[in-house]
Amino acid sequence: MALSIDTLAFAYLVSAILFILGLKGLTSPATARRGSFQAIVGMIIAVAVTLLSPEISSAIRPYGIIAIAVIIGAAIGITVAIKIQMTAMPQLVAMLHSFVGLAAVLVAIGTFINKESTGGLNPVLMGELAAGIVIGAITFTGSLIAFGKLQAILSSAPVVFTGQHWLNLALGVIAIVFAIHFGMTGSYVSLAIVTIISLALGFLLIIPIGGADMPVVISMLNSYSGWAAAATGFTLQNNLLIVTGALVGFSGAIISYIMCRAMNRSFISVILGGFGVAEGGEASPMAAAAEKGVKAAGVEDAVFWMDNEGAKVIVVPGYGMAVAQAQHALKEVKEILAGRGVSVKFAIHPVAGRMPGHMNVLLAEADIPYDQVLEMDEINPEFPSCDVAIVVGANDVTNPAAKIDPTSDIYGMPILDVEKAKQIFVIKRSMRPGYAGVDNLLYYRDNCSMLFGDAKEMCEGLAGALKGGH
Ligand code: TAP
Repeated sequence: MALSIDTLAFAYLVSAILFILGLKGLTSPATARRGSFQAIVGMIIAVAVTLLSPEISSAIRPYGIIAIAVIIGAAIGITVAIKIQMTAMPQLVAMLHSFVGLAAVLVAIGTFINKESTGGLNPVLMGELAAGIVIGAITFTGSLIAFGKLQAILSSAPVVFTGQHWLNLALGVIAIVFAIHFGMTGSYVSLAIVTIISLALGFLLIIPIGGADMPVVISMLNSYSGWAAAATGFTLQNNLLIVTGALVGFSGAIISYIMCRAMNRSFISVILGGFGVAEGGEASPMAAAAEKGVKAAGVEDAVFWMDNEGAKVIVVPGYGMAVAQAQHALKEVKEILAGRGVSVKFAIHPVAGRMPGHMNVLLAEADIPYDQVLEMDEINPEFPSCDVAIVVGANDVTNPAAKIDPTSDIYGMPILDVEKAKQIFVIKRSMRPGYAGVDNLLYYRDNCSMLFGDAKEMCEGLAGALKGGH
């Protein structure tokens, strides 16, 4: 049974609407489940009607091969989804993007070979094929490098050498020239050259970018993979693939922009690489001057400040909470305090951790209610009236240098106004800086004390001390 073109177009429209509703749902934790469900339904409709489309159902016995591919793919997908740790999500996403890129290259080459023998090539299609190969090949190798760096298979240190950007520029120009030649002549030699150069370019573009900048790179590759899919959609004349590719392409680009803005970095500086290289980093003159007088405290001191009925506590989680997996212990602290009439809220900086929504996901995993988790703009006005701010493995996102030290690398980055709390306790293991490699002026403030230790152990210590006190 083959569907009519009209039915197919209508079903694709329904799918596209469901994908858009899905994206909308994913903008808030409260509606994220619904959004995922809508997207799943959209995808089921899309796959089902595509299988029944005239082009596929008229082909000779295609369903057997498709079924084998679906079973193998589903088995791998289900296994990976069950096994993957939340902290390994970025590399999984990178790996999936590489598949999209590879698929775009293979579809373009396959379509070219197929149409060359059957005689369906035209200049527009050739242009689409060339674009699909370039974007797809860059996405493929770029995503593989991003995966390798995040999975620690490759060193996450930026690989930089003299003339790197010129080399990339030259290769980019050569790739475009051969892509145009391929588009005009259908030459297999040009096809091979453009594919190889684009694969090399994906590799070369990503190696100078340090592991810590990878989240931005991944959302950028996410955007590329969307454009690769859209190019494939043009090749296959599949409207839904074009729409979906554009949705992914734009959403990846927008999230890259949001991340760069929250880090106060330009997109170009991320792409050119080399940031976050220094382990340790130079203290700014201001910070160095203030270097004396960092106070260390114990969990009992923190408990003394927090364990008072009517007190207002704001928790600021960061990358260290994710590394230590301290969210469950933190939840216990929150429950005990809440049971004693203490107000506890969580303050989320847009780039806390290492990927968008990193903190939200971990807090949701520990079943911390969404209404107690506030974004930066909502929570910042509350710090001046807060009795205790407890910083759990966060660093850069609390650094007042971003507001007052124009020489600082992070000057201009929006931060959480933790310094305005009456008393601050910072849980971290040492005086080492965070991702940006800059000293944190917060630690030198009179109202700040350090709780040195692993975030999970310290949170468990706080919970124990709170229980012991009663
Ligand atoms: P960071 O500034 O990186 O600081 C994390 C702190 O956690 C470190 O200072 C570290 O200090 C501490 N830590 C590490 N392991 C710990 C453990 N087991 N127990 C306790 N503490 C531990 O993190 P942040 O404040 O979340 O800021 C995020 C940074 O990443 C920003 O600079 C942001 O621009 C950047 N970034 C974010 C993203 C996204 S999308 N979220 C993407 C790219 C870059 P010790 O070593 O002394 O323990």
